[in-house]
Amino acid sequence: MKDARIRRVVKAGKTLLIDGPASIIMLSGKATVLGAPISPEEKVLVRFGKRMPFFFLEDSELEALLGDSASIMELEGETVPQSWKEAAQHVISKSPRLVLVMGGVDSGKTSLCTYLANLAILHGYKVAAIDGDLGQSDIGPPATVGFSLLERPVTDLFVTKPCSMIFIGSTTPSRACDEVVEALTVLTRRAEEAGADLTILNTDGWVSGEDAVEYKVRLVEKTSPEIILALEEKGELTPIISTLKDVEVLRIEPPETIRRRSREVRKSLREMAYKKYLKDAKVRVFNLNWVRLEGDPIMRLLGLRCTPDQERLTELKEVLGAPPIYYGETLDKAFLLLDRCLNKETRAKLELYFKKPVVILRRGDESGRLLGLKDSRGNLLGIGVLCNIDPKRRIIRVYTRVTETVSSIHIGEVRLNTEGKEIEYPSGKSLKPKPTDINL
Ligand SMILES: Nc1ncnc2c1ncn2[C@@H]1O[C@H](COP(=O)(O)OP(=O)(O)OP(=O)(O)O)[C@@H](O)[C@H]1O
Ligand SMILES: [Mg+2]
Repeated sequence: MKDARIRRVVKAGKTLLIDGPASIIMLSGKATVLGAPISPEEKVLVRFGKRMPFFFLEDSELEALLGDSASIMELEGETVPQSWKEAAQHVISKSPRLVLVMGGVDSGKTSLCTYLANLAILHGYKVAAIDGDLGQSDIGPPATVGFSLLERPVTDLFVTKPCSMIFIGSTTPSRACDEVVEALTVLTRRAEEAGADLTILNTDGWVSGEDAVEYKVRLVEKTSPEIILALEEKGELTPIISTLKDVEVLRIEPPETIRRRSREVRKSLREMAYKKYLKDAKVRVFNLNWVRLEGDPIMRLLGLRCTPDQERLTELKEVLGAPPIYYGETLDKAFLLLDRCLNKETRAKLELYFKKPVVILRRGDESGRLLGLKDSRGNLLGIGVLCNIDPKRRIIRVYTRVTETVSSIHIGEVRLNTEGKEIEYPSGKSLKPKPTDINL
């Protein structure tokens, strides 16, 4: 369906809730989006899956280009809850070093961070926004955490350029709690070193269950914010908040006009973000003698330098009926790269033969893995998609837009195709989700 172009006159004191994809140009009048002033001629993009509240301060006119599934709804008054305004005023009057925003899935965390950041900037603060949400990340690609220094008010943190990012490799915090807590502690320090007066730390929506509580409490203890803004409807954050000490907690409500997103919409939002960070990517070939592999312990085996012993190869040929593509041994395991799966008997024979656990890798299993490419100081240069690893020729092919010198490559657990679409694990090789895994 062709995009619809409409003109709209709106009275002062009204809100237009615009669901993307859409692009809006103010023709006359004055409005704000989550505290960011929007003036005439300014173009505002509303991403697919996002809702943006335009609150009109004066009688105004705008032109909207509405894409597929976009919509506009007019409401009386503002959709920013009073409690958000009071909390923002409180933060600005207290000028803390670090504010942490917490809440369940689709509770308004990102919008509250945006609103608070905009008000603080308008009060002259130098603001850093840290995105600690691996799944629905607005700053940096999913499966990373990162921060931006905000120069001026923004309508969407997605448009900001990350100053620093750290690669985690999963979009599910329950699979990487330690790494996320460590990374966010490092980023709060980096944001201060970068000169931020106020740092706003946004978190993921994983808040219920023992593991989530333990993880969030540890995050607060390690980053030690002065103020926590807790978005909740029915005390769902109490198990976390009741455990905390020496931190001021403001409980505030999610907006009534929140837009809940389905699993599919959340997946497309993640894929849009991968696509953004893979734009203009090309295939690069790296020599495994110069680049260190990190992350997935199994895939990293393919980067090990092993000199296959001919006698062993002949014996393996007998056990397998054909020579392996590649094999190697470490102190505690042996690994074989094959073109096929093995049945239980053959596996058992192999473990007997090597007298240690044997890892079977199938050629191509590595392809599609999300990668974090880092420089010699460990800074994340960008993401990539693993095409293949050739252990014999000791090279790794990566689809990436990173052009700088790469020193290490972190192999993540997310799998993408080269369009940035998330792909499920090949049959029989599923990533065993933990009961606490939620769709972020
Ligand atoms: N005050 C508001 N007025 C209108 N719409 C809002 C408001 N706050 C949030 N929304 C809309 O509701 C949706 C969810 O909000 P938001 O992204 O801030 O939640 P979140 O808690 O960060 O979600 P996630 O768990 O995915 O990170 C978004 O599309 C957002 O634009
Ligand atoms: Mg969010």
